[in-house]
Amino acid sequence: MSEELGGLLPKLLTSPPGPRSLEMASRLSRVESRNVTYLTPDYPVFWEEARGANVRDVDGNVYVDMTGAFGVSVAGHTAQGVVDGIRSQSGRLIHGMGDVHPPAAKVEFLEALAGLGPWPESRAILGSSGSEAVEAALKTALLVAGRPGILAFEGAYHGLTLGSLATTHREEFRGPFLSRLYEGVRFAPYPKPGDGSKEIKKSLDKIRWLLREGDGGDEVGAVIIEPIQGRAGVRIPPPGYLEALADLTWNAKALLIFDEIFTGLGRTGALFGFLHEGVVPDLLCLGKGLGGGLPLSACVGPAKIMDAWPPSQGEAIHTSTFLGNPLACAAGTAFLKELVSGDLVARSKALGETLLDLLSEELAGVPGVSEVRGRGLFVGVDLRDPDTGAPFRKAAVRAATLALRDGILVLPAGAYGHVLELSPPLVITQEQVEWVVPKLGGAIRGALEA
Ligand SMILES: Cc1ncc(COP(=O)(O)O)c(C=O)c1O
Repeated sequence: MSEELGGLLPKLLTSPPGPRSLEMASRLSRVESRNVTYLTPDYPVFWEEARGANVRDVDGNVYVDMTGAFGVSVAGHTAQGVVDGIRSQSGRLIHGMGDVHPPAAKVEFLEALAGLGPWPESRAILGSSGSEAVEAALKTALLVAGRPGILAFEGAYHGLTLGSLATTHREEFRGPFLSRLYEGVRFAPYPKPGDGSKEIKKSLDKIRWLLREGDGGDEVGAVIIEPIQGRAGVRIPPPGYLEALADLTWNAKALLIFDEIFTGLGRTGALFGFLHEGVVPDLLCLGKGLGGGLPLSACVGPAKIMDAWPPSQGEAIHTSTFLGNPLACAAGTAFLKELVSGDLVARSKALGETLLDLLSEELAGVPGVSEVRGRGLFVGVDLRDPDTGAPFRKAAVRAATLALRDGILVLPAGAYGHVLELSPPLVITQEQVEWVVPKLGGAIRGALEA
């Protein structure tokens, strides 16, 4: 039965969450830290298997996945090439010694990764999570610039490990741990596409001031930004903004880090988000889809920057037990092949345009839908009070709950849970997209009426 999954429309056997999901939730609540999984009578469903853009839960319900499981399933769930790569590697070597006697699979993956990047000669530091890639980039920038201060952006999400969390903006993540966070991070406003020249100027003026005169805190040596803010609600900066930011950064001899953990690898209809902007960063953070579903991330940069790291003298000063894990690397190499052989970047562009057009049409004139925006298969529906412009708190959370009942997996985003975020696998079919749009329209209208 599982081979059918991939391009199916939803098929619900029970009203989700079904009895087995509810039972799993009850078992989970007894053994997992209660902060981790959001458990309510309406949420979540527990996954049993997935392929392409379909997920089947433990009650046998089939969903169309508009989340890509946090944007990870770029080449689709359980992509055949990735499965084959993992299968073949797992019979030979599952774990190696990343920085001592490294697995051959690490070399093969790093070569494939270097072949994708914008630099003729590049080096990478591998990790397992996106947060680790950010940590590696922040350390690299300090080695190069020698100034510890960091400029990040309001709304930014760069991860939750202590170094990366210091650059993540959202209060609920930072609040309890504030006393452990580096205080030399400053946040500048992240402009929105609708912003006029006044807001853009305000953001750039603040950055210029921080980079040139400074506020008396640690001098800034690194600027870290998402080319499109993901978890803040698919916020796309206005044209020319990243270029202006790059100029300011480089004039101040600071390093420009693009966190493309969400936007990289085809998500936005280009291989990397920066290709839309014509700005090549100094350092690039990748994660999520990079391992084809296995945990794998990378901080990549040109040799002239990355070689600020001294050669290992037998003790690597930045490494981890699972660095270059052969199974993850084999999956990553297979994933990168799928990305190319499946022409998935072009697919993201074309289907993303279809999704954006259909959704904009579906939601045109709906009071409370302030904007439908996106690039490639990365789309956000912004829900705001039409009179005040204030975000409709939790409206996207309600919409996601209603969509689940129609067999659609979708996530809320934005600081107030007011943006419905769509980041489906790039292999989603046209038929699935066309089916999903009116159902999402219904869920959004229902959420706004509630
Ligand atoms: C842009 C961005 N950076 C960093 C991260 C952190 O990645 P991870 O959760 O794998 O640590 C995320 C996760 O959503 C992200 O979207």
